[in-house]
Amino acid sequence: MIKINENFLKLQENYLFSDVNKRVEEYLSLNPNADLIKMGIGDVTRPIPKTVIEAIKTATDELGDSKTFRGYGPEQGYDFLRNSIVENEYKNLEIKADEIFVSDGAKCDTANIVELFDKDIKIAITDPVYPVYLDSNVMYGRTGEYNIETGKYDGVIYMQATEDNKFVPLPEELEEIPDLIYICSPNNPTGIAMNKSDLKKWVKFAKNNCSIILFDAAYEAFIETKDVPHSIYEIEGAKEVAIEFKSYSKTAGFTGLRCAYTVVPKELQVNLNKGKERSEEIVSLNKLWNRRSTTKFNGVSYIIQRGAEAIYSEEGRKEVEQNIRYYKENAIIIKEGLKKAGITAYGGADSPYIWMKTPNNKKSWDYFDILLNKYNIVGTPGVGFGPSGEGYFRLTAFGDREKTIEAMKRMSL
Ligand code: MLT
Repeated sequence: MIKINENFLKLQENYLFSDVNKRVEEYLSLNPNADLIKMGIGDVTRPIPKTVIEAIKTATDELGDSKTFRGYGPEQGYDFLRNSIVENEYKNLEIKADEIFVSDGAKCDTANIVELFDKDIKIAITDPVYPVYLDSNVMYGRTGEYNIETGKYDGVIYMQATEDNKFVPLPEELEEIPDLIYICSPNNPTGIAMNKSDLKKWVKFAKNNCSIILFDAAYEAFIETKDVPHSIYEIEGAKEVAIEFKSYSKTAGFTGLRCAYTVVPKELQVNLNKGKERSEEIVSLNKLWNRRSTTKFNGVSYIIQRGAEAIYSEEGRKEVEQNIRYYKENAIIIKEGLKKAGITAYGGADSPYIWMKTPNNKKSWDYFDILLNKYNIVGTPGVGFGPSGEGYFRLTAFGDREKTIEAMKRMSL
């Protein structure tokens, strides 16, 4: 008799953003003429850069010609893109092309990577957290049940990111040693980035404890603060302990096109022995991820990879920079608007996300309803990212400029 993977039954009924969408749909069915401003899911609004579109068109024409047609591509990504990534993103960091795995999204990669590790390892996530890290481990069976009282899953280490630690959890706060540590910097949802000294502590901790860091750098292009690393490999020794995820979604508008990449350095090796002593019995995670990719993935389409490559042209770079500037100006408008409205808010400086405290300590979902019903603004309730997000609310700067200004006007009334 067929049986399901019962770990799925441990999950909350809906993925956070599906939940938000569901409530918005319900509202719209009752108020079809509502002039909604969407600042919920971090989806971009600027069009794809022209240089990228041109590259995609040219690549499409190539596929329509028998002389230049291509079928299956390399599962790990075409060399032209892997080499461009190495040259442009990892200058002086000595990352090699065969350590880059091109994929259809950082969301998918951060979720799929859980397969490489034993079921019994202990994971540490921040609280609040991008829900994919947690949900994918729940599905994999690496957690216990969901505790409705605490809003947490048993068997998971939650690292609180609150005002008290300036939203940056550090290893010294841990009560237990995790095997797999999720770090997202600049952080989704708090919008706060870790500086070099924070990351050094994490790398040292991982080295000392034979742990691995999954470093999500999807928002790296938004970093402005000098002391904030753009890649974890800027930290000495990080190649031995960290996998890095990056994405074109939020920089070049690829949320619909889909293209990202994951870096798995060859130095990243795991001891097969259960103990802490290093032995000859080591296995390369690069090899495992490659093995997994070749079996389960056929690569990102040629035309999209050509589009991604075009981002690194002179013109492409300029266009992407313009997009990022546009969103960052939105972030400033939001921060200023909230300040005027007397609302405390964080983030936005190195990130497209603004993490605001709900007025009068309202519960996150109650505030969601107020914003939706009173101001026709959609945001994301902080508690959806974890119990420490209760009383917070996330707004994104990825909207259209006029709508962002209008939203702040509405909120300051
Ligand atoms: C978000 O709103 O948190 C993002 O859209 C998540 C994602 O990139 O999947």
